[in-house]
Amino acid sequence: MDENHVLTGDTSMTAEPTPCRDGDHGKFEITNRDGWARLGKFHTSTHVLETPCLLPVINPNIRTVEPRELWEKYGFKALITNSYVIWKHESLKKKALSDGVHALLDYPGVIMTDSGTFQNYVYGDVEVGVEEIVKFQREIGVDIATMLDVFGTPSMTEEEILDAVNRTIERASASLAEAKDTMLNGPIQGGTYPELRKKSAIGMGAHPFSVHPIGGIVPLMERQRYKDLVEIILSCREHLPWNRPIHMFGCGHPHLFPICVALGADLFDSAAYALFARDDRMLMPWGTVKLSELNEFPISTAALHGHTPKTVLALSDDARCELLARHNLEVTASEMARCRQAVRDGTIWQLVEERSHTNAALREATEYLYENMPEGLISSTNPLRDGGVQFSQDLPISPPAVASLGRLLSSYNGGCNQAIVFTGSSGPWREKIGGLVHSINQRWPGTGIFIETPIGVIPYSLEDVSPWAHLVGPTTMWGQTSDEDIRFDVEALVEDIGEIIILSIEDGKMENLEILSSALGDGEKNEINRSELDRSIMVEKVCYFFDISIDDSKSIMDGCTFVYSRTKRVRNVYSSDGKHLFSPRMRDGGISLTIEGAKKLQGAGVATVVVIPDSEPFTRAGRNVMHGFISEVRGDLTPGLPCIIESEAGELLAHGVSQCTAEEARDMRKGIAIKVRDGIGES
Ligand code: GUN
Repeated sequence: MDENHVLTGDTSMTAEPTPCRDGDHGKFEITNRDGWARLGKFHTSTHVLETPCLLPVINPNIRTVEPRELWEKYGFKALITNSYVIWKHESLKKKALSDGVHALLDYPGVIMTDSGTFQNYVYGDVEVGVEEIVKFQREIGVDIATMLDVFGTPSMTEEEILDAVNRTIERASASLAEAKDTMLNGPIQGGTYPELRKKSAIGMGAHPFSVHPIGGIVPLMERQRYKDLVEIILSCREHLPWNRPIHMFGCGHPHLFPICVALGADLFDSAAYALFARDDRMLMPWGTVKLSELNEFPISTAALHGHTPKTVLALSDDARCELLARHNLEVTASEMARCRQAVRDGTIWQLVEERSHTNAALREATEYLYENMPEGLISSTNPLRDGGVQFSQDLPISPPAVASLGRLLSSYNGGCNQAIVFTGSSGPWREKIGGLVHSINQRWPGTGIFIETPIGVIPYSLEDVSPWAHLVGPTTMWGQTSDEDIRFDVEALVEDIGEIIILSIEDGKMENLEILSSALGDGEKNEINRSELDRSIMVEKVCYFFDISIDDSKSIMDGCTFVYSRTKRVRNVYSSDGKHLFSPRMRDGGISLTIEGAKKLQGAGVATVVVIPDSEPFTRAGRNVMHGFISEVRGDLTPGLPCIIESEAGELLAHGVSQCTAEEARDMRKGIAIKVRDGIGES
């Protein structure tokens, strides 16, 4: 690595750009995700850009930090500049037209250009034509150009905003025709009117743009109207094609990155790093601070190395501005990296919550988001998490917790007439109450057994399932749910439930049994053996993970036998004729499917992907299903959860783990759709 390298704008430390492969130009693929938050690769002919990613704004006349340094020292793989500024200045225009924009800026990475719309909003004097500015961007060789959209300002009336939306849509066809093979940004306008944002998203999404920037948001962000910003993203995200990156025009403050990334934003641009530096303001992950108000630096960056606030204040205006711009760039880049890592770690919502507590307007926006969480975001969230799940104020209403609860409510059909709820202790519950649960089953069959957790009541059958089983936090967070709330949760799971007995596990096992005897009577001694209990647990788990009915689950599990681990946990499930069907996973409480298990599940309502005939031989052989080869999706396809794969003739070909939702399977044209675990083999 170059020793002058400070930070990387993306995770690949290439010295040279890596152009996309033939046929990939303009494609966007998702490589990792959590709900709508996604890590992607955007294929341009200059470089394959890893997203989410920040594009520093370069004013070709000022260049606070040289573009070459952005690439080599800071690792920014893309920047944005203004084609209208280049077009207006004869010397810039001449060089750009003769040598190209990459030579003009001395930058080897991806260059996006804006069109002059923003200048028109700020200065009102833009006279370039709709086709003319797109043609110019193509001629100077930009990677991603922008059409001349009509900026909708917060002060406009609804009629005026509607006019801006309509005029932008009307300009789409001519702009795209002029762009030819150059990728084009199709901005979304609509002001603060959700219906107009939706109209803009649908209208622009119908044209073959490569990227959709969300425009008209700068004046809102300047006034910290973050709730409006969230409402705007929510109004358009679901209506935009899932295979195109979403760009947040002018969104460069690092504290906004987590919430925007969580809502599916892929690209950001920042002039803030330079603009704030001019006013002696420093970007921090938690907000903005004034240099003059600091006695010492609360953060360490390469730019600040060897300095104190006093020595920086003593620098000349130009030197100080440059140093602060470099600091701001470093913070911006590392906050973007933090978001990417959080998506990989499944902790993006934790980061959203953390940042929400740094700014009252951001907290208001976050609370608004929780109250208006889109159903589509929840259903695209994998309820399972790898590793511990940190308990926090927002966790119970966060998408992973809501997704797991939603799945539980729709799949649970325990059919019991009375319930016992154990409270007051974290897992592993099997170790604490496993024997007691067995005794209860023997003496009082038909009794539903539940566990109280800080994010809701669960049936005992899911006692080892993430997130409930892996909650991390102080012991005092257990046993906090009121009896009333516990009853409410149980009643939501079981209609017309009779008696609900709530017992603290801290009471001790024997004592519990005595308490139960006095509450329920002695009960009959039934000979329910270990595997019968495990069977009923597996029946419920199969319903939870595969979305099938209780009757189908019972019939699959009928006559099954189990192989146990040394610690007496079910390791493998075999059918009555000795075929290996399922293996419960220790890691997250999920179920790994086998091809024999897939055969049993076929036709029972499990999420099913149908592939086109071209893909059949590869899928049979156990190769991943790639986007572009799916002709139909049935059932609820959830990223991270199992599904089966069929031919168009209805034959089982394979089973795997979905990486996408049904909508993404419809739109995406590159990347893995289903990670295939096993294929059925040759026909
Ligand atoms: N830069 C910041 N906002 C906008 C916008 O709405 N449109 C364009 N083209 N550029 C912008």
